[in-house]
Amino acid sequence: MSQPTIESILNEKRLFEPPADFAADARIKSMAEYQALYDKAAADPAGFWAELAEQELHWFKKWDTVLDWQPPFAKWFSGGKLNISYNCLDRHLTTWRRNKAALIWEGEPGDSRTLTYAELHREVCQMANVLKDLGVKKGDRVGLYMPMIPEAAIAMLACARIGAPHTVVFGGFSADALRDRLNDAEAKLVITADGGFRKDKVIPLKAAVDQALENNAVPSVENVLVVERTKSGVPMVAGRDHWWHDLQPTASGNCPAEEMDAEDMLFILYTSGTTGKPKGVVHTTGGYNLYTHMTFQWTFDHKDTDVYWCTADVGWITGHSYIVYGPLSNGATSLMYEGVPRPSNPGCFWDVVEKYGVNIFYTAPTAIRAFMKMGEAEPKARDLSSLRILGTVGEPINPEAWVWYQQVIGGGNCPIVDTWWQTETGGFMLTPLPGATPTKPGSATKPFPGIIADVVDLDGNPVGDNEGGYLVIKHPWPSMMRTVYGNEERFRRTYWEHIPPKDGQYLYFAGDGARRDEDGYFWVMGRVDDVLSVSGHRLGTMEIESALVSHPAVAEAAVVGRKNEITGEEVFAFVTLESHHQPSDELKDELKQHVIKEIGIIARPADIRFADSLPKTRSGKIIRRFLRNLASGEDIVGDATTMEDQSVLDKLRQGA
Ligand code: WT7
Repeated sequence: MSQPTIESILNEKRLFEPPADFAADARIKSMAEYQALYDKAAADPAGFWAELAEQELHWFKKWDTVLDWQPPFAKWFSGGKLNISYNCLDRHLTTWRRNKAALIWEGEPGDSRTLTYAELHREVCQMANVLKDLGVKKGDRVGLYMPMIPEAAIAMLACARIGAPHTVVFGGFSADALRDRLNDAEAKLVITADGGFRKDKVIPLKAAVDQALENNAVPSVENVLVVERTKSGVPMVAGRDHWWHDLQPTASGNCPAEEMDAEDMLFILYTSGTTGKPKGVVHTTGGYNLYTHMTFQWTFDHKDTDVYWCTADVGWITGHSYIVYGPLSNGATSLMYEGVPRPSNPGCFWDVVEKYGVNIFYTAPTAIRAFMKMGEAEPKARDLSSLRILGTVGEPINPEAWVWYQQVIGGGNCPIVDTWWQTETGGFMLTPLPGATPTKPGSATKPFPGIIADVVDLDGNPVGDNEGGYLVIKHPWPSMMRTVYGNEERFRRTYWEHIPPKDGQYLYFAGDGARRDEDGYFWVMGRVDDVLSVSGHRLGTMEIESALVSHPAVAEAAVVGRKNEITGEEVFAFVTLESHHQPSDELKDELKQHVIKEIGIIARPADIRFADSLPKTRSGKIIRRFLRNLASGEDIVGDATTMEDQSVLDKLRQGA
């Protein structure tokens, strides 16, 4: 993470109390109430979650055991039977919510649609029957590669309804990246759209699916379902491809939800790690349903009258947990927006807030910083007075952006909830509760009740107040990832053995650096591993390096993050070339295109620097620290004596 931000976070001393009228009306009204919940959960975690599971969710059959913890493998609510699609839909149909808006959707070109709970239920049942007709059975994996349209949520819920785990691949990933993920998951069917609208362009999603499946490259895939969104006239492969609108509207709207075991897999979601190969994070049904339900309810202080809007894409965990499952399980109105702020429409977010009277708004620091740069005129020109809570997620938020968000968007009277969590954690881990927790700009404040967090050194010993260390979680929680799909060893190594277990105490290693201050507030400082955060998107440096090295001109590559004031970090690559290749601007562009092809537009290097060789330790490990300094034009800090060849640094400096 960048120096200035760390500095500003370190110096941050402001404290914002929840507004008194807000607290009076909130679900959790004071720190005393928060503390009571926290203490109750800490004293008896199983009892705490069991009580909520009973009270908040519908079960076809009650569980036998609340928690079965055989580190690092946890099972929650074993023997219990439920279906998350039932909890998100069916159970609301017998209440007044039947005709309440479940999804409000605003399309990029200005079209829109509202689906009530009854309507959404019907569409999901129809889609579930289509999937069944195409041979998808409980346990089969279904790949989704979709734009931000209601069909994405419908498809997810339809999969959940019949017990077919979905694996959503963000539409910004390339055909190659899609192919790898579909193969790893051995997906039986893919759901996509002809294209998606993004920043005034059409993203050719179906073409990417065709490319991914070319030459039977994903042998498990039997069928492809295609939503017509952009009407861009895509070719359909006979026998394999089917239009959604040919099959779904005529399918039966009756499809009872499959009774799933609490530990049956709900979805796989791929995320970047320290090696080149993305990890398939596995989430299961019961614990995930409960935890996303509770965190949504308490953190956003959900009221039945709220219009809630999370700006994430359903291709990320934020979209899974807090556009689809958490909100719908609570019977909330969840708004989905297809557009993203773009030069041609810098006020589009505020138009949406005004049009629908959004009450709860959840976005990322990169978006907030982009708006800050565009100035106050756009938000000031709209009526944003409906807003009552503002959320942020994805990376540490710099206090300047936090205060701007609070003042300019929130008009000074909306609590800010800075939620720290990960694909792996399923739901919020560190977060304020808006009616209770006094907030400090830049801090994700305190653990959600039931979460035991700590900051430790590499031996697992807690560090002192305000000392930097590694953020860990000490007790299993219901929505924790269960494994890396097909790779238990990697799950164990990455998350549970990075800090060696001591006396049977396992610590979940999050991969983030943090400190805890004298008030027990956590300050997350950013990744401590080789993972970058570009616009809140998580990218593995090794993944990008592998992509670069797969180009015939490249001998070696090292990728580091460079500070960017809007996106947080940007990708900076150092490349050495094979002997018969010469550095040139054309080659730079070619390599950037190559990364886009291999991974996707989100991984595009902002800059590439050619070098004769890279700085390495005597044992051959690339010294990224030096490269990070060089990328940001800083002096090399630290000891260079372990370097294999001192002249390498001089050359790299000259190349600057
Ligand atoms: C990483 C997880 C969870 C949804 C979005 C990203 C960073 C996330 C915060 C926050 C500081 C944050 C961490 C984490 N992160 N939220 N509020 N403050 N850092 O999910 O792609 O799994 O990335 O995002 O570094 O480890 P993800």
